[in-house]
Parts: sequence; C-alpha cells; structure tokens
Amino acid sequence: MKPKFRFAEKALQKIKKENLYRQLRYGRVCGPHITIGKKKLLNLCSNDYLGLSARSPIHIQMQSSSRSVSGNDILFKDLEDKLASHKSQRGALVFPTGYMANLGAVSALAGNEDLILSDELNHASIIEACRLCRAKTLVYKHNDTDDLLKKIKSNSAKTKFVITEGIFSMDGDYARLDEIAEITEKCGAVLMVDDAHGDFAVGDDGKGTAHLFGVAKKVDVYTSSLSKALGSFGGYVASEKSAIDLCVNRARSFIYTSALPAFLADASLRRLSLDRTPNQKKLQKNAFRLREGLKKSGYAINTKTHIVPLIIGDEKKTLEFGRYLYENGVFAQPIRYPTVPKKSARIRVSVTARLTDTQIENALDVFERAGRKFRAF
Ligand SMILES: Cc1ncc(COP(=O)(O)O)c(C=O)c1O
Repeated sequence: MKPKFRFAEKALQKIKKENLYRQLRYGRVCGPHITIGKKKLLNLCSNDYLGLSARSPIHIQMQSSSRSVSGNDILFKDLEDKLASHKSQRGALVFPTGYMANLGAVSALAGNEDLILSDELNHASIIEACRLCRAKTLVYKHNDTDDLLKKIKSNSAKTKFVITEGIFSMDGDYARLDEIAEITEKCGAVLMVDDAHGDFAVGDDGKGTAHLFGVAKKVDVYTSSLSKALGSFGGYVASEKSAIDLCVNRARSFIYTSALPAFLADASLRRLSLDRTPNQKKLQKNAFRLREGLKKSGYAINTKTHIVPLIIGDEKKTLEFGRYLYENGVFAQPIRYPTVPKKSARIRVSVTARLTDTQIENALDVFERAGRKFRAF
C-alpha cells in the first residue's frame, strides 16, 4: 500500500467495524437464476420485473458523442415520442441512466430561488439532484401528507416542487399519490414523480403508479428508468414541452456526456411494442404469492407491490441472514446504511414474472427456515 493511501485504509476499517463493508461479487444472470462461482442460486434481487431483459437487440452501434453534438440518433425521436405518449405528456427526453435523468431534470427545472419538498426516503439520485440545483430543500416525513402540507405552506418561494418516488425502492410501498397530487394542485406546486419501480410494472398497460392511483394527469414531471421493468437500459424524463426544452438546454448530465448507444434505444422501442400484459399479470400473481407466503410464515409484510423488504434491523444479523439464504440457494441481498437508515438493515426481496410457482414455494421454505433461525418474526 502506498503510504499516501493510509486515509483510504482507515476509512475502510471504520466501514468494516460497523458491518457496512460492501464487496463486489461476480456472477452471471441467466433466466431466474444467478451463477456465482459454481453455485446456481434463485435470483430474488432482480429489477427485471417483467422478465424482458434477455430479448437481444439486433443492431449494435456504440455512441461516441453527446446528444447535443452528433450522438442524436433518429431512434431517440421515435422512442421519446412513444415515452411521452406512454406517460400522457407532451414530450420526453432520454438520458443514459435513470440516475442521470433525475440529476438533469431537477437541476434544469429548479434553481436557487425555488423550494423543493422531498420525501425522506427518496432515492440517492434525487438527494444528489436537490443538492446540485441549490434550491432550498425541505425533507418531509416519509409519505406523511400532513408534514408535506405544513412544510409547503411554511415557505413563500415562487416555484415549489414536490418530489416523490412512485413505489419506494427499498420499502416497496406506494407513495400516497392521490393525496400528494391534491396538495400540489391546491398549492400550485410542480409534482415530480420518479417511477423507476412502478413504470411498466403497474397500472393499465404498465403506465405506472400515478395511473394506478387515477392521478396520471396531475403529475407534472415524470422521471424513470428503462433498466427495470422494461428490461432495457437508460432513463428518461416526460413532461411539458417547455420543461423538456429546458432539460435539453440546461441539464448537464444530458449535455456533457455521451449519448446512450442507439441499439439500446432500439431495444427499448422493441420492448415498448410488446404486449407486456401477460408478464404484468404474472408479476402481480407472483408478488401476491410471495407476500402471502411470507405472511403465513409470520413475517410482518406491509407492502402491496413486487418489492418486499424483510426488515431485520441489525446490520450484522442481516448479513448472516443473507449468507444463510445464499447457502440455501436464494440470492436476495442485504441492504444496509447508507442505502437505508442505520439499524433498519433488511433483505430486499424483489419478485419477477419469470419465477415459477415451484421456485416461489422453494424460496418461501428457505425464508421460513431463515426466519426461525434468526428470530426474524
Ligand atoms: C427510485 C430510483 N430512481 C432512479 C434510479 C436510477 O435508475 P438507473 O438504474 O436507470 O440509473 C433507481 C435505481 O435503482 C431508483 O431506485
């Protein structure tokens, strides 16, 4: 070790002491399984909710330039038109990832004279975006519309933005979008919904969480990922034409980076044209089966979605719990601080449409044994 890097060694020692050390594991995903070394496990931490990711694109052309220079393949026009219509918005803009879509959209639309109200459990990319745009940011208690209302009324900024996820990525609960939309309408605030986990997965034709709640038209700006239920890659923003134009002109994570390779836009277009309803129905059925099975074992399950966290609390115990699952053929990752608050470590189980009834029953059997061994219920 170079002596100059003692600071890194010290920081890592602290992380390890707190049981928060992360180590990358190499594996290969194939269907509903993941192979790590010689071990084949049931993959219960995939975001390929509808099982569409294995459909291969046919035309591969890498991009070597920004969208604003020469990387603006004609396929983006078609994809953005289709995404705008998918979200019933006037325009859409594709970014290389969902993370970059959040950074770009929030920093392009909100400035230092504005106010942002952000749910306390919002994704890291939203938190970064709020810092980046320099708007005053007030964090409201998770899904607490009384707290949101109190905080939104406490400030007289010219433009107010409320930002929430549609389905919360680590807790799996729905945002109270009906109540939140009522508040933003009353207060004239801009409602932004990051629906990375609900988009393409819930609502008629996979139109997302706001559609499921009947408030799709009240959402002003959507951000989402193409890398989850659509089984493709990339991120996007959908909104009014003027907001999209502002992103093209101001969003640094759009302007100062290479465009998404066009073959990935093509992959998204192909998946968008599929009839995804059978996969969506299977996803709902599988999620229901898993949630009910876990409840029957004694787990406290509060979500109604395909993201089912098993909250263990203690970080060390959660790591041991995860290791037990791994040894018994189930891959479901322990999630710890800073992704979730300290002492609320959990196993985040995500369901996909690929799982068979037998695979779910086998996984439930392992979860039941793990729950008893670690006194998780
Ligand atoms: C709520 C939320 N928003 C945005 C993202 C980022 O999406 P992407 O993986 O496309 O960068 C994620 C990724 O996990 C997420 O959970």
